[in-house]
Amino acid sequence: MPLENIPRTIWWEDGKVMLIDQTRLPLVGDVLVCNSHEGICIAIKSMAVRGAPALGVAAALGIALWVVEETFDIYDNREFLRALDLVAYEIASSRPTAANLAWGAERIRRLAHDNRELPLDELRELIVTEALAMQAEDEERNRQIAANGAELIEPDSRILTHCNAGSLATVYYGTALGVIFTAHEQGKIAKVWVDETRPMLQGARLTTWELRMAEIPHTLIADNMAASIMRSGEVDAVIVGADRIAANGDVVNKIGTYGLAVLAKEHGVPFYVAAPTSTVDLTVAKGDDIEIEERDPREVEGFTVSGLIEPDSDDLTKALEMLTEEGPYALPVARGHQLQISQKGDVYQFDAWFRVAPPGTEVYNPAFDVAPAEYVTAVITECGVARPDYAVSLAKTCSGAGGLDEIRRG
Ligand code: MRU
Repeated sequence: MPLENIPRTIWWEDGKVMLIDQTRLPLVGDVLVCNSHEGICIAIKSMAVRGAPALGVAAALGIALWVVEETFDIYDNREFLRALDLVAYEIASSRPTAANLAWGAERIRRLAHDNRELPLDELRELIVTEALAMQAEDEERNRQIAANGAELIEPDSRILTHCNAGSLATVYYGTALGVIFTAHEQGKIAKVWVDETRPMLQGARLTTWELRMAEIPHTLIADNMAASIMRSGEVDAVIVGADRIAANGDVVNKIGTYGLAVLAKEHGVPFYVAAPTSTVDLTVAKGDDIEIEERDPREVEGFTVSGLIEPDSDDLTKALEMLTEEGPYALPVARGHQLQISQKGDVYQFDAWFRVAPPGTEVYNPAFDVAPAEYVTAVITECGVARPDYAVSLAKTCSGAGGLDEIRRG
């Protein structure tokens, strides 16, 4: 099945964490090898790994990596746990909004503290085993979300989605896109509208790539086209993922989600949110209490593009070889644009940032927004589908699921 061509997003191999570099997809398919928990933090901050469920697993594997690679000189359990707390905090705070990141770090931290009496070697092994279990659980959970969500999809549906809540945002299979994959297998999907999702273009770069792999008909649109498409009756449902869902059902997701939720209500289109219970944070009363990450203004001031160079003459190959023989070469480009060339094996790659706005333009770049619960038709989780009143239904759906609130309570 073509869907199986989608690679896993993050995995553990020979005591290292491997991840697909999502900053360069789809034109360059690099795999990054992380040797330290700092490497994981950098990958999270740079969005080489991204998407709430993938971040939860990255946090757990990041701590496992620290245990395997960086604790040789710790012989005392108390010292180990003190250092682990700091590492868990460092990883969990590398991005503030997605609940899963804190959930992943906290689940490992709690397990370690609950087993603090074990000999240190056993404690180390327990942590690695748990992180690997979390990696495997992710796909199971997503498939259950997909099965629950597909039941809500009508035959011949035209679905609109925002950002990437696909396989790449998880270990495998995805949440919102997982629902679409399963509904497609059931023959219910006529087409998918994909919002490009400025500024980081997760829709244009990642969601289209997955849908193409899965051979599902789809059309890419700029974010500002969604309103007009809904008005002309061409959208039957909106499905998005979430980064954190408050106890009252307010949903924090990729910037632009709020606008879609309001539009969907105005046009009588159901607005579904697909997310694991680890995204539901019952310790937070409402969406406005959730910290919204603000990112580098350069994401909005310009565009980042990476790609491969295909030299069409020996002379060009020689020139590229000379430029890159001592490592990546940054070309002197005018007007603040940036262009770097690097060689990877036989292949030449460019990484570019092109300025669009005049230098000095003031920029505001929040990465997420709040879609208030009143706009959300249903929240689809692995434990079932919650509908309003969310204050009641989310607590019931998530009870016993091991979410952030339960882990914190211990
Ligand atoms: O900034 P990102 O790319 O990490 O944001 C991702 C999203 O907003 C997703 O919709 C969300 O994490 C759900 S992914 C299953």
